[in-house]
Amino acid sequence: MPEPGQLVIDVHLDPADWANQLAEQTRAGLRRCPPTIPPVWFYDDAGSVLFDEITRLDEYYPTRAERTILEETAAEIARRTAAETLIELGSGTSEKTQLLLDAFTAHGTLSTFVPFDCSEGVLRSSAEATAGARPGLRVHPVVGDFHRHLGELPTGGRRLIAFLGSTVGNLTPDERTRFYADVEATLTPGDAFLLGTDLVKDPARLESAYDDAAGVTAAFNLNALHVLNRELGADFDPEGFTHRACWDDRNRWIEMRLVATEAQRVVVGGLDDLEVAFAPGEWLRTEISAKFTTQQVTAELDRAGLVVDEQWLDPAGDFALTLAHPAGQA
Ligand code: SAH
Ligand code: TRP
Repeated sequence: MPEPGQLVIDVHLDPADWANQLAEQTRAGLRRCPPTIPPVWFYDDAGSVLFDEITRLDEYYPTRAERTILEETAAEIARRTAAETLIELGSGTSEKTQLLLDAFTAHGTLSTFVPFDCSEGVLRSSAEATAGARPGLRVHPVVGDFHRHLGELPTGGRRLIAFLGSTVGNLTPDERTRFYADVEATLTPGDAFLLGTDLVKDPARLESAYDDAAGVTAAFNLNALHVLNRELGADFDPEGFTHRACWDDRNRWIEMRLVATEAQRVVVGGLDDLEVAFAPGEWLRTEISAKFTTQQVTAELDRAGLVVDEQWLDPAGDFALTLAHPAGQA
């Protein structure tokens, strides 16, 4: 057992296996129409730095809205869940999570924090910072894929699984259904689930949140092409693509695209020289960010066997934080 303050990282991602998975997902995605890439390509070290910048942009309200809710509710969440272990999926820098850790420290139940992310570099540095600042807390980072490794999360004690930042909106509807089922399957009596979701609103505000004036989101999106070039031996010309964020009213999601400004024929060396051609105006779909209503969140969790205890909104009604527990329990 590591002493509090000592950092032991569990790695569930075998690098070769992970690389292979990503390659196969990318192959399947690039063959689709329009071609699509898996979103994990965004979060290399450069992408993680750009994402951190996005969270501070004027246009990008979700981080501030969620922080406002956490400021108001963290103490209540600590009291209601009395968790001994806080697990954070897709933890990134765990910046807002410090509010929960403060509240749990004051409440006195929490002994362990498990940040879980597929991006080992960011996970390591943020876990080290948290451990350094909180000598009484056992910090147990886990490198994993939340689509595959929820069954391998540490067990024992009352656990709160948090999934913040509306990252659930970056999953396709099918992935989301499977994800909620996996969360329900891993929760045991006494455990709880805390979910942050961005809410449907004026499309103009949504589109500017994903296409800021300073071009940080554009750089974040285009960075995925640099990652594909480096990791899969592709020859995308990032200069030949431009960032767009489009509201899809039918699916109620923001779709992030990289639109070809000139004809391009891309060869992906690491995928047996797979070729993808773009005429001017054709695009690569890089990510979706679904927006929800509070009723929809409750209904989807309910269908997975998760009962909502409480739902909190920020004063502007932009973002929701939902606390739930597995059905069949008090
Ligand atoms: N929770 C933070 C960060 C959100 S960004 C916030 O609220 O601001 C999304 C995070 O999820 C990134 O750190 C990314 O590396 C991680 N991530 C994306 N796909 C993942 C996957 N399949 N498994 C685990 N982590 C993933
Ligand atoms: N999950 C967040 C969102 O959808 C963060 C995020 C993922 C994001 N991909 C992004 C933010 C691309 C801006 C651009 O808002």
